[in-house]
Amino acid sequence: MPMRCISKMSSKKIRGRVFLVRVDLNVEEGSEKNAYRVQAILPTIVHLLCHGGKVALLSHRGRPAPARGISNFQFSISKQQRKLSLKPFASILSKKLGKQVVFIPHFDFEKIEARIESSKRGSVFLLENLRFLAGEEQDDPALGMRLAALGDIYVNDAFAVSHRANASVRAIVKYIPSYAGFLLEKEILNLDRAAKHYAHPFTIIFGGAKISDKIGIIRRFQNKADYFLLGGGPANTFFAAQGLPTGSSLIDTGSVAFAKQCLRSKKIILPIDAERQNGKILDIGPKTIDQFDAVIKNSKTIIWNGPMGLFEKRGFEEGTRGVWNAVLMNKKAHTVVGGGETVSSISLILGSKFLISKNVFLSTGGGAMLEYLSGEKLPGIEALQK
Ligand code: 3PG
Repeated sequence: MPMRCISKMSSKKIRGRVFLVRVDLNVEEGSEKNAYRVQAILPTIVHLLCHGGKVALLSHRGRPAPARGISNFQFSISKQQRKLSLKPFASILSKKLGKQVVFIPHFDFEKIEARIESSKRGSVFLLENLRFLAGEEQDDPALGMRLAALGDIYVNDAFAVSHRANASVRAIVKYIPSYAGFLLEKEILNLDRAAKHYAHPFTIIFGGAKISDKIGIIRRFQNKADYFLLGGGPANTFFAAQGLPTGSSLIDTGSVAFAKQCLRSKKIILPIDAERQNGKILDIGPKTIDQFDAVIKNSKTIIWNGPMGLFEKRGFEEGTRGVWNAVLMNKKAHTVVGGGETVSSISLILGSKFLISKNVFLSTGGGAMLEYLSGEKLPGIEALQK
């Protein structure tokens, strides 16, 4: 069922209204400024502001321990959790938007409502980390209702958290007209194009961790995809299925049985050489890079999630670099790349200018992308379709 999208809303409906925009600012400390996730939410905010709307941004950050023994609206964080505050994003977003983003450091909802109401058109607010409230992760309807009361229209522009049944993602939608933002719409369009309307040869590339999720997707796409190029944890799990020594390399023992059933499949392409340290596999080797390059070059649809190796460590970035080069060179394929680490690896290895590449769609979703690809219904998206 299609989602209601903000892109289809007339500018008349935007003017003077308060938009509660759920974004995903779940970005690690220290990488806030250049985070792709921050860049990706700007089009929706700019659109709403340009058409005379007011914007209140809602987000979570990290996984703060839930507050105990207090109501779901009260706000109690330890000193240690303060580093999960969303405050640093107010000045970063102010610079990017060229206007002040007002940070609201409390959850006194009456005051917040009054503050937003008395502001001028074109104002932007950023609320504190919603996971500081116990009700957020409990999908508490009372919190959803309280949040909804702050605005006129809710916009989900946070694909990356749409797999979580959280109050600001799911419960809120029951109490306020709700729409998908530009980013969410683009994510679904690109993922559907790759996973449902693919052209052959269709290649899926998996590396990194979250092995069991990726193995589940291999299972689902066994008859649809033409090739699975595996590096990182998924490849190691297949090596274990072959009975090869994997030392202390990352594997998922629960997936070894399924990997054994697939060993004869010509679609599964495993590394033929590897870079190791103390017996631990930390990257694919040069022959594998060539082999993967040859497959990627001829593919028409590509989905990639998970780096090929420990790219943050010098000497183990070549596999991931090789896949990036091949993917960027193939201008005729529709390519979707996701996973926080995979997306951040492009800036680290090749430079941030490659973040904008016409033939490659970078998904802001990590777990959400994998859940969507595995065919699960995401609560945040389902809620917008009702
Ligand atoms: C993510 O980074 O994948 C999302 O923000 C969801 O975060 P979570 O896994 O802590 O719910």
